[in-house]
Amino acid sequence: MRVVKSLFIGFSAAALLTACTAGGDNPGTEYAPNMYHSVAYEPYSQIVDEDAGRWLTSIEYPDGHAEFFNSNKFNPHRMTMREPAPNTVSRNKQGWLPYRFGKDSLAYAAASIKNPLDSSAAVIAGGKLLYEMYCDHCHGAKGAGDGKVADKYAGVANLNSDALKNISEGHIFHVITHGKGLMWAHGSQINPEDRWKIAKYVKTLQK
Ligand code: HEC
Repeated sequence: MRVVKSLFIGFSAAALLTACTAGGDNPGTEYAPNMYHSVAYEPYSQIVDEDAGRWLTSIEYPDGHAEFFNSNKFNPHRMTMREPAPNTVSRNKQGWLPYRFGKDSLAYAAASIKNPLDSSAAVIAGGKLLYEMYCDHCHGAKGAGDGKVADKYAGVANLNSDALKNISEGHIFHVITHGKGLMWAHGSQINPEDRWKIAKYVKTLQK
């Protein structure tokens, strides 16, 4: 009995140790492969070995592969996910194309880009809410450059000044996106649609 016990322990130890030898292209023995590789269809992770999991296959798959095979032979790189068509430009969650004018294109952007939103009460109300979140503390509730932060952060622009009261919505959009002078960029915090809403609201302040 003793011998059997020590043999058992010896074998288990040997099995454990050999299983752990991984390296180079060899991942070692996987005791529960479906914990490493999802059996579910996933976009990137796929098992291309048609025989993987043959030992526990209980279903007959039409093309004869074993349990863990889940790659798509017909897609590029055998991924489940299709690659986008060539020259595809990704849009953000709202379906907007990226804003491509660089920071130094203010004058051009101000003259050429138009606000795609209408001037409905809902858009203005949304713009007001966003203005209160992102701009009010510097520019003040009426845009006079007298927000709380402006006490400490000198040079906040008065949006109703003669120099600024006639700026276009494109100008405002561009400044929110890229910042200007002492004002930091807000393009990464505020999505394009919300930036346009704010631009609409700022115009109501400037009237
Ligand atoms: C941290 C304070 C701060 C915040 C927040 C801030 N601004 Fe400004 N803003 C400034 C300062 C400072 C200037 C003056 C920049 C300069 O000319 O150096 C300025 C300038 C501007 C101008 C005038 C640009 C020009 O052409 O001279 C506009 C328009 C403007 N801000 C809009 C906004 C809007 C809209 C928001 C909210 C999304 C916002 N700002 C948030 C500080 C701020």
